[in-house]
Amino acid sequence: MSSDLEAVRRARVGILISGRGSNMVALADAVREERIPNAEIAIVISDKTNAAGLNKAKERGIETLVIERRGRKREEHDREIVAALKGKDVDLVCLAGYMRMLSREFIEAYRDRILNIHPSLLPAFPGLEAQRQALEHGVKTSGCTVHFVDETLDGGPVIAQCTVPVHQTDTVESLSARILVEEHKLYPETVSFVLRQIANKE
Ligand code: GRF
Repeated sequence: MSSDLEAVRRARVGILISGRGSNMVALADAVREERIPNAEIAIVISDKTNAAGLNKAKERGIETLVIERRGRKREEHDREIVAALKGKDVDLVCLAGYMRMLSREFIEAYRDRILNIHPSLLPAFPGLEAQRQALEHGVKTSGCTVHFVDETLDGGPVIAQCTVPVHQTDTVESLSARILVEEHKLYPETVSFVLRQIANKE
């Protein structure tokens, strides 16, 4: 029986990082400020012990976990990550500077429930050093993309994009900084949108 008094379950978001974690912070802050309503960050998992984002998560009172690859196969490593996410009852997985491709098993376990943010207007410039690729191609506009993760490298369906101008005087650093400002807005907005879609389906 449902009643108005019944507590609505908060959507549980798991975030995977490998590095500095600024997008993770943007998501955590948006959850705290209810710009991503009715959600909580259930866990932040890093595949690197020295990821700077781990401390930023801890400072925000978010549970963290390091799951290193330690020479294991991708499938085995991913199995441990999926088990940790399932153990925390995670509904949506957000990759935020997570520097590894996911195995098919991981993608199947969270089909249509894994998002990634990438610093280019996909399908242009997938993979590493997207901003450098953009500069080398001489594009006049670049930006960032949030997309569903599938088996391809940065190739899953696009959900949202934001553009930024590329100036003639830009360096990789200046273009990356301009894009990052937009990443920090686009990712929370998109997570909020996707969680609303999921809630409407349930
Ligand atoms: C961001 O540029 C993101 O688009 C890409 O990796 C970078 C991660 O930065 N996937 P941060 O760790 O979120 O600061």
